[in-house]
This record gives sequence, structure tokens and C-alpha cells, in this order.
Amino acid sequence: MPKDTLSITDNRTGKIYEVPIKDGAIPAPELRKIKTDPEDFGLMSYDPAFFNTANCRSAITFIDGDKGILEYRGYPIDQLAEHCSFLEVAYLLLNGELPKAQELSAWKHEITTHTLVHENIKQFIDGFQHDAHPMGIFLSTAGALSTFYPEAKNIFSAEVRRQQIIRLIAKVPTIAAYAHRHSMGLHYVMPDNDLSYAGNFLNMMFKMTELKYTPNPVVEKALDVLFILHADHEQNCSASAMRNIGSSHADPYSSLAGAAAALYGPLHGGANEMVLRMLRQIGSMENVPGFITDVKAGKGRLMGFGHRVYKNYDPRAKFLKQMAYSVFEACGRNPLIDIAVELERIALADDYFVSRKLYPNVDFYSGLIYQAIGFPVDMFPVLFAIPRTVGWLAQWEEMLLDPEQKIARPRQIFVGQKRRNVPGFKVKETSATR
Ligand code: CMC
Repeated sequence: MPKDTLSITDNRTGKIYEVPIKDGAIPAPELRKIKTDPEDFGLMSYDPAFFNTANCRSAITFIDGDKGILEYRGYPIDQLAEHCSFLEVAYLLLNGELPKAQELSAWKHEITTHTLVHENIKQFIDGFQHDAHPMGIFLSTAGALSTFYPEAKNIFSAEVRRQQIIRLIAKVPTIAAYAHRHSMGLHYVMPDNDLSYAGNFLNMMFKMTELKYTPNPVVEKALDVLFILHADHEQNCSASAMRNIGSSHADPYSSLAGAAAALYGPLHGGANEMVLRMLRQIGSMENVPGFITDVKAGKGRLMGFGHRVYKNYDPRAKFLKQMAYSVFEACGRNPLIDIAVELERIALADDYFVSRKLYPNVDFYSGLIYQAIGFPVDMFPVLFAIPRTVGWLAQWEEMLLDPEQKIARPRQIFVGQKRRNVPGFKVKETSATR
């Protein structure tokens, strides 16, 4: 019978070690038993950027990157996107099950009645330069919320955690919309409790002088679906940041500010903004082959392509490509779609991209939809952060309740200078220096 262990022979000492295998992984601390002598620190594993290291056990999101599968709590992403609302999916991610009718109406009520922000938050946002990037405003303001709710530090109270989770999910659209309106020099719009989560966000973004804002139902539905597709993605850069910061027992607002900062980067959530800028820079279909040649020559990346986990078509991108056309019907066609489709066509037939398994990711088509709806390009990462708040919070709470988790603290392999003395420093002779 094969055993669930790994035998390691240390050729330095000739000793053989049996390391247990559980869930397809070996516990790295076991390696520390592999020593050349009792004084030896023991073996470490070296894995920059966590290419092959699981940092946690998680029951939230499952991805099979080779097959292009994404599931939240066991439900396929396409079924959730077609059949559920964003708030149902948010409940699912946080609680493990889809809400029953009564649970859903209570959940919706709680979120809807926490959308207002303290008036001082508006003054806080007013303090930013008129041309401040809305993602900078968003992440700073999310962090600033911790000063409004100091009780949030009490992270081991289930009730306190729940209160902050509701506040954050309810308030991130308000902060996001206010970040945009500040940059436009427009008044801040009060949340409208009659509208859906996505509909109210559109109201706070775009309402002008009309007494009541009525969202376009196609746009409202599209935004809700976009929110579902972006809600969680297991241990990505920003979720890991949320877990890492949270592992020091910081309050959820401070942890979330750090997660949003991680999302901001162009290799992560900032990629949707970069895709749009790239498409504009390419300018026309004739320039696509030349652009691809430049990418292959190492002059920049094809933004919206490639993924650490997906080595197949990102299922979210597949969904968004189809959805783009229905949004264009309602809002007008985004001419950049032709350049995007041509880029995809050429890249997917090119050995450079095929051999590296580089396919469109979620950011490739989302920006075209956002732009067609009327969102300015620099709001794109913020649009990612609104729904991802749910995923960050689910990951954060799971980490806090996991008895195996401790403060995150990686090891290093020190490659710097050996101990030496500062020039001119008189070293006292001791038995150690002699
Ligand atoms: N364009 C051109 N070449 C690429 C690209 C790209 N978009 N992505 C990867 N490569 C090449 C890379 O140069 C390398 O080639 P070689 O083996 O010759 O050195 C190989 O593919 C592997 O790339 P890597 O950087 O080692 O892969 P990674 O897993 O560290 O990076 C990634 C993943 C998403 C950061 C990367 O694919 C990338 O920079 N993509 C563009 C930015 C982007 O669209 N980011 C959004 C990711 S999806 C949303 C999210 O979850 O944040």
C-alpha cells in the first residue's frame, strides 16, 4: 500500500526522513527536522512570490487554473452570475450558504441602511487634490474609517466583526462614488435606499439635477454581474495582503486599506485601467500586429493577458466578452472592442502566448464595459475594489477563526555582508572576539 508520506534522503548526512503528505502538500515546518548537526537551523523551503506554497486552508473559493474553473463555495461562477444578485453572492461568500428569502431580505436591509458616511468623511475627501487618483482616495478613506469606529479593534467579537463587515460592504460604493465626484468638482449624492446595490452606486456616481435617479436596467444588471465576477479570487495579491495585515490583529478597515493598496498595482486590479490605456495607445486594428511584435520583444506586456493561476481562458473573461455586446446595445458601442478582439485573435494564434499559456484575464474586457457605461478610466481599479471588499472580508474572517494561523512572518535567506566592524570602532577584546 502506498503511504501518504514523502521520503527525503539528505545526501549530506545519509539520513532518511519521512515527511507526511496531506491534501497534496507537505508541512514546511517538517523540513526543519532535516539538519546536518544539532546546531543547524534545519532546512527551509525557498519560494519567492509564493509560486508553490499554500498559506492557508480555505473553504471559500476554488480555482482549477488548467481547466479554467472558478467556484464560490462550490457554486460555478457562471451559474451565480446568471442566477443570483451580488448581495446574495456576498452573503454566500461570507456565510458559506446562499441566503434563504428571509435571510436575504434582512441582509439587504442591513446593507442598505448603512450606506451613509459620517459628514467628516466628506471633508476628509475634500482635502484631496482635485486630480487625485480615485483609488488613492478610496484606499485612504477606507483606512480612515477605523478612526470613526474604534470598537472595530475588538476583532474576536463575532458581533463586532459582523458590524464592521456590514459597514464596509455598505459604505465602499459611497466612498468610491464620492472619490469620483470630488475629482469632477460635483456635489456628493445621498444614497437612495429604494435602489439595488448596483443601482444605488450608479445613482451616487451619475445623478445630476433630477429629483430621482433611475438606473438603466441593462447597465444595473451588467454592473451587478461584474460585481459578482470580481467578488473573490482566493489567495491573490490583495487577499494575501488582507490576511497578512489582519494576522497582526489590525482592525478590518486598516487591513482593507492595505488590501486595496495591493489591488491598485498594474499587475493586479490596476490592470483594467492599463488595458484601456493600451487599447487607446494602439489606436487602430492595423497597429495590432506591430504592438504584438513589441510585446514579444520585451517592450511592455499585453495588459489583461496572463495569470498566475489560469493557464486557460479565465472563465470571467469569457463571460465578460459576451456581456460587452449587450451593454453596447444599451449604451452605444465602444470602438476599442475591435482592437481588443483583434489583439486576442492574433495573440491566441501566436506561439509566444500559446507556449506560455497566456489567455485573456478578467481585466481584458471589463474596462471596455466600464467605459461604455460612462465610468472614467481611473475609476476602473475602484470598481474592482467595491466587490472585492466582500472577498477580502471573507478571507480575513476565515484567517482569524483558523486555529492554525498565526502572525504572518516569512523566513529569508540572508545573502548580505558577514558581521564586520564599523571603521574606527574600537572593539573591546572579549573571549568572543579573541
Ligand atoms: N504579456 C506578455 N508576456 C507575458 C504576459 C503578458 N501579459 N504575462 C506573462 N508574460 C510572459 C512573461 O514575460 C514570462 O515570459 P518568460 O518565461 O519568457 O520570461 C512568462 O509569460 C511568465 O510570466 P510571469 O511574469 O513569470 O508570470 P506571473 O505568474 O508571475 O505573472 C501576471 C502573472 C498576471 C502578473 C502576468 O501575466 C502579467 O503581468 N499580466 C499582465 C497584467 C495583468 O493583466 N494583470 C491582471 C491579472 S488578472 C486580475 C487579477 O487577479 O489581478
